[in-house]
Amino acid sequence: MDEGADAMHTVDGKVIIVTGAGRGVGLGIARHLGRGGAKVVIAEWNPERLDAAVPELRALGVDVMGVRTDIMQRDEIDAMVAATISRFGTVDGLVNNAQTFRPMAPMATVSHDDLDVFYRSGVGGTLAAMQAVYPTMAAQGWGRIVNFASSMGITGGRGFGAYNASKEAVRALTRTAAREWAADGIVVNCIAPAAADHHGDAAKETEGYRTFVENCPMGRQGDPETDIGPIAWFLCSDACRYLTGHTFMADGGAFMWA
Ligand SMILES: NC(=O)c1ccc[n+]([C@@H]2O[C@H](COP(=O)([O-])OP(=O)(O)OC[C@H]3O[C@@H](n4cnc5c(N)ncnc54)[C@H](O)[C@@H]3O)[C@@H](O)[C@H]2O)c1
Repeated sequence: MDEGADAMHTVDGKVIIVTGAGRGVGLGIARHLGRGGAKVVIAEWNPERLDAAVPELRALGVDVMGVRTDIMQRDEIDAMVAATISRFGTVDGLVNNAQTFRPMAPMATVSHDDLDVFYRSGVGGTLAAMQAVYPTMAAQGWGRIVNFASSMGITGGRGFGAYNASKEAVRALTRTAAREWAADGIVVNCIAPAAADHHGDAAKETEGYRTFVENCPMGRQGDPETDIGPIAWFLCSDACRYLTGHTFMADGGAFMWA
């Protein structure tokens, strides 16, 4: 491979924040980006998960920093971004993966308190983190932002009304930021993953899991590190230079909608 192509197809040396990287999809992405040479900041509110994830990445040889951050608190996001810049000198990428969950509820009874939590974490946290990194990315004329949507939101999955509303609002923010910030050299995209999650084997007993696997051409859920990680890696690299405002269904072909 010649040097020009090499330089585009890499995240080596990039400073990338991954929110909610204490477990699940975020942790898998953080591992993959870190193995690719990125300097990784884990912004996670759960101290036990943070305390486990940071040494795990360090043991892989990743230059990593953990910052305890509740993405529902704007001042904590600002402090986390400031700590990132203080430690690594800049911020090149932001993976807005964190989402606070509430139990499923039918539309007839879904509470406004739950709607508020989904919105403050999903939409509010995503917007606040984008706003916090924007000045630095715009000043350097280069930035990569990866937000998180869900096929649930796109299809209107039953029992997930508040979650679905929040995830679709994240896609709306993504498109607007993509239009407004393209001139600053910042591209903004979404991943809608279908990934093996923290529920482990118990989740495989559910009807939702069986239906997914039956309908998925690849017949399995994704692995956070090896299936979802490379998609985030591409979206954070210079190779992703002519794609913005899109949602990528990282789901083994389960949901083909574009
Ligand atoms: N797993 C899937 O199949 C799937 C499907 C569709 C969308 N998603 C989206 O992918 C993302 C990750 O999902 P997951 O399954 O890995 O979730 P998860 O619950 O396993 O992990 C979420 C992480 O975010 C952290 N977090 C939660 N609220 C936070 C807050 N307020 N501040 C900081 N950290 C917080 C949690 O502690 C946890 O470590 C989410 O945005 C989710 O909506 C996942």
